[in-house]
Amino acid sequence: MDVKIKKGKIEDEAAEAIVLSHYEGEKSLSEETAAVDRALGGRIRELIAGGEFTGKRNQSLMLYLKGEIPAKRVLLVGLGKKKEFSAEKIRQAMGTAGRPIREAGLKAFSTPLHGRGQNKITTAESAQAIVEGSLLGLYQFTAYRTEKRDEIKEVQQITLVDRSDGKIAEVAAGSRSGQILAEVVNYVRDLCNHPSNVVTPSRLAEEARTIAKEFGLTCRVIEKAEAESLGMGAFLGVARGSMEPPKFIILEYTGGKKKDAPVVIVGKSITFDSGGISIKPAEKMEQMKTDMSGGAAVLGTMKALAQMKLPVSVVGILPATENMPSGTAVKPGDVVTAMSGKTIEVINTDAEGRMILADALAFATRYKPSAIVDLATLTGACVVALGNHATGVMGTNPKLIERLKRAGEDCGERVWELPLWDEYHEQIKSDVADMKNIGGRGAGAITAAVFLRKFVGDYPWAHLDIAGTAWNDEARPYAPKGATGVGVRLLIQWLTEMSRGRA
Ligand code: BES
Ligand code: ZN
Ligand code: ZN
Repeated sequence: MDVKIKKGKIEDEAAEAIVLSHYEGEKSLSEETAAVDRALGGRIRELIAGGEFTGKRNQSLMLYLKGEIPAKRVLLVGLGKKKEFSAEKIRQAMGTAGRPIREAGLKAFSTPLHGRGQNKITTAESAQAIVEGSLLGLYQFTAYRTEKRDEIKEVQQITLVDRSDGKIAEVAAGSRSGQILAEVVNYVRDLCNHPSNVVTPSRLAEEARTIAKEFGLTCRVIEKAEAESLGMGAFLGVARGSMEPPKFIILEYTGGKKKDAPVVIVGKSITFDSGGISIKPAEKMEQMKTDMSGGAAVLGTMKALAQMKLPVSVVGILPATENMPSGTAVKPGDVVTAMSGKTIEVINTDAEGRMILADALAFATRYKPSAIVDLATLTGACVVALGNHATGVMGTNPKLIERLKRAGEDCGERVWELPLWDEYHEQIKSDVADMKNIGGRGAGAITAAVFLRKFVGDYPWAHLDIAGTAWNDEARPYAPKGATGVGVRLLIQWLTEMSRGRA
């Protein structure tokens, strides 16, 4: 996508379409909407007075013009109530605006800055939210459509038009951050939407190598033999059922001072979760191609970090394997020894995410990190608890959890805490080993986290269960059906605050 910045008046834009916004229930129009309204002889005010356009959140209305201004169309979009306004409303409004423009077959649109100054939204924040919302909302996954490809519609250019003096540099900076983030999130969505016969552990390793090469990161891929000598029995136990070679992938970005302890982010990278011998029901099993969403988010975060040159040091770890049933697969009742030396009784082979994370988290502690954050499509129980509107967070460090929650609120990827009380530990006690890999009926999201906790030592750690947020069954304003790419914007928001010394 080509994103352009221009100083000028939106009413002078010779665009195929311009996007104008309005707050619900407000009499007065924004400066830009008012300017166009005057040129149109009060047509926008009439539509509002008649109740045809109310400015309700995510309402949109296309107007066809007859040469009153150089633009051919105006797309009105609602920002919702003024007092509830936030950058999230801009992202949603622009996500909503993009699709009717694309459906009309248009290749480009122009937009002024929306919501600037309202509820402390700065010029850069508005520009970032506009670009993020537009690019994320216009995402479509068409890699496997071979028929009628020429009928695929695509918006190719967005122009941000700002009339105010001396603000263009700020508009450009915000727009650039928005474009980096949205393009990375769309890359993550692609990785998750591609099927598991394409996105294999080997492919994830290739992606990591490509990112490292392009942006100057360090990449190391631990192959099966080396993982064996490192004693990664939990990770390899999961990989044993599959013909696809497992890959334990590490990416390092050093943006901070050499002596600073890095942050380690770990992403569950099961490229297909059949359940293994404890095989899953056939219904919706195809969705388990996205069981590497955590790992994809880690790859994306590393890519974004390097492009944004954030002054923090971050290590990304992806334990990548399939979880398959076969004659060589791990069986219920088997005991494996994790890299930390702890033994695990595998009661259910479908609880494989925590197994691979056990070794990845233990590996993370080798960096003596300032914090460890893992992202995993870990439990159906988290989907039951929080649905699709919040990522579950659990951990040992209240400050870290607070910061992640705040970052989530700011970037529109909400995070909600579940407790990790000691009492839950009882549920994963095993009769034959140090622990078992499932905790019975109650509190499934929590007992999974309790299991992970045994591998992070005393390092500040937070676990993000993205099982409910990584996939959309229905389209949202700026996230079409399918993979959402959740996690990248959340981690970058948190790391940005950290680099500013605010987190
Ligand atoms: N990958 C699944 C969790 C999942 C479920 C992700 C639905 C996205 C949507 C995970 O590996 C799994 O199978 N978890 C089991 C754990 C159980 C066996 C304790 C689950 O949640 O049912
Ligand atoms: Zn599973
Ligand atoms: Zn899984």
